[in-house]
Amino acid sequence: MKNFKWPLMSNNILPNDKKVLVNFINRSDKFTNGPKVKEFEKKWSKWLGVKYSTFVNSGASANLISINILKELHTNKKEIILPAFTWSSDVVSVINAGFKPVFVDINFENLALNEDLVKKKINKNTLAIFLTHAMGYMGLSKKFLKFLKDKKIHLVEDVCESHGAKLGNKKAGTFGIMSNFSFYYGHHMTTIEGGMISTNSKEIDRLAKMKRGHGLLRDSQDEKFIKKMIKKNKDLNNDFIFSTEGFNLRNTELAAVIGIEQLKRLNNSIKIRNQNHKLYLRLLRKDIFFKNFNLNGSSNYGLHLILKKPNLNLIKKILHILDKNSIEYRLGSLGNQLRQPYLKKFKNSQYLKVLKNTEHMHFFSVYFGNNQFLRKNKIIKLCKDLDSLII
Ligand SMILES: Cc1ncc(COP(=O)(O)O)c(C=O)c1O
Repeated sequence: MKNFKWPLMSNNILPNDKKVLVNFINRSDKFTNGPKVKEFEKKWSKWLGVKYSTFVNSGASANLISINILKELHTNKKEIILPAFTWSSDVVSVINAGFKPVFVDINFENLALNEDLVKKKINKNTLAIFLTHAMGYMGLSKKFLKFLKDKKIHLVEDVCESHGAKLGNKKAGTFGIMSNFSFYYGHHMTTIEGGMISTNSKEIDRLAKMKRGHGLLRDSQDEKFIKKMIKKNKDLNNDFIFSTEGFNLRNTELAAVIGIEQLKRLNNSIKIRNQNHKLYLRLLRKDIFFKNFNLNGSSNYGLHLILKKPNLNLIKKILHILDKNSIEYRLGSLGNQLRQPYLKKFKNSQYLKVLKNTEHMHFFSVYFGNNQFLRKNKIIKLCKDLDSLII
């Protein structure tokens, strides 16, 4: 694998994380989901500002469980509105649960669903909006939240890329009926692999914890509910009541120990990421690149180059500059999921025409890493090199 001078992701497992982990290993003999997981969940809930959280083994698992939980709402509504500019696991979760994905375009300003376009797609079959707060931007507005509340449409938030983004003084992940986070290597904080489902609903929390552990009743951590269900299922062994459709998506005590340490540094990491982002946007030339991002409450994940106008030749020249600086990048960033082979069935030319900004991002944008270890001189050098571009 190529060694980049400016990689997409940088190691955030620091010597102290390793020390704490080794100490834990040396004094413990149980490493599967246990008290440390509970402690991490409690501390995460407090940091985020919700009542309950469930630690799982990835952000994709958090997506999968959350959308599966929507099946338990017992409704005939089958449509879920989501962006095509998102991660594959968001779309896969919707399809796997038997819902119909309805794709809506995004804004450039926050790379999230365009609220006016969402409103046009809402009908009597709309069950939920599965919104991605992409690349660290706040994807919601107060007006839109009020609209969803009035219409009684559920909101599920994917915050896998935007830990700490805010609307007013509330964090992304506290607005929907539940929210998803990823702690994959290189995200705002990491547990190596890991994810979280957060919610203020006792019922959703119970379902998330059971679905994480095979659907088992005893994993619900709700004594009252357990007693009630045992009474109802006298023909079953109390320890083997599979109460809901479940998976095994548990994480370990080891990952939780790392998570607890990382959480202590999260606010500071966000601060440095945002400082880098602001410097980058200040230096970035404005004649060819879109710079008008909504930075209110943003918690930057990665740096973007988005062309103002389509120009494939210019993209080639830009990639050449990134290569010369040994910068790892992703052309299209999240891209248009509808162009991916796994969604062949849903792709049609009409959809591609409607998803204008998503298509523009797919072909005329590139993103590369930002993190708390990125040196300012690298940002300054890159922006200088981009200044020399001739259109
Ligand atoms: C928006 C979004 N959702 C979900 C995921 C899946 O997270 P994970 O890689 O932890 O499975 C990612 C991955 O980075 C993501 O960017």
